[in-house]
Amino acid sequence: MLRALFTVSLAGVVSCGTQHGTHDTQGELVLSSRTQPEEIPGYTLGGPEVAPAPITLEELGLIKKSLLFTAEDEKYLRISRGVLEPHVEELVGVWYGFVGANPHLLASFSSDAGEVDSAYLERVRARFERWVLDTASAEYDQDWLDYQFEIGRRHHRVGKNETDNARAEDHVKFRYIQALTIPVTTTLRPFLEKGGHSTEEVEKMHAAWVKSVTLQAILWSYPYVKDGDF
Ligand code: HEM
Repeated sequence: MLRALFTVSLAGVVSCGTQHGTHDTQGELVLSSRTQPEEIPGYTLGGPEVAPAPITLEELGLIKKSLLFTAEDEKYLRISRGVLEPHVEELVGVWYGFVGANPHLLASFSSDAGEVDSAYLERVRARFERWVLDTASAEYDQDWLDYQFEIGRRHHRVGKNETDNARAEDHVKFRYIQALTIPVTTTLRPFLEKGGHSTEEVEKMHAAWVKSVTLQAILWSYPYVKDGDF
């Protein structure tokens, strides 16, 4: 039963809204650079409802500098986009499998009584797939920066559950967000090998992903940090 929740296709997600996504012959949504933000429920990157980031792009640059994130990392992230795009559903399926296998993580998608909110899982899954492509596109401009703080709020009690009207625990613990950077980037590695690139190039793509996910986990920590301490 739970397994089914974690392998649910995007078809159900796109049939409940007014989306005009690209569909393959099975009628499933194919996420690509042509997918427009408004086609994914709750995905608001670049939208007017997203609050401005509390740090500037220059300050973002200093975090990048502190974790050795360079133009070369941007280049290898962009190469990874073409490698990952055909496998993005499978990749996110692996991550969902990890969450589903860990009750302390699955609790974030469940009510206090332990009932999993499957509609919530499906809607977040579509945005998660889009996140893979956004991360790999490496266009870390003002809209992207603003949206990182929105993603942070969506994990914290200040904003969790609101986007999807979910019936689930109201807060993701800070400790697990940092911890999940490891399984997310470790399980990504075999997918980076699927593009026929050399071991050295795969290594560079992987290193760039580790830095980007670390960077984003730092930005998402904002609502968890005492005012003035971020
Ligand atoms: C490196 C670690 C993590 C990554 C990369 C990640 C990624 C994401 C992404 C991309 C979204 C959708 C953002 C959007 O709305 O556009 C999301 C939402 C969510 N994530 Fe995470 N996440 C991480 C850690 C965690 C952890 C540890 C949990 C706890 C199980 C968790 C639970 C959730 C939940 C419940 C939502 C939906 C929040 C809401 O809008 O109500 N995440 N995450």
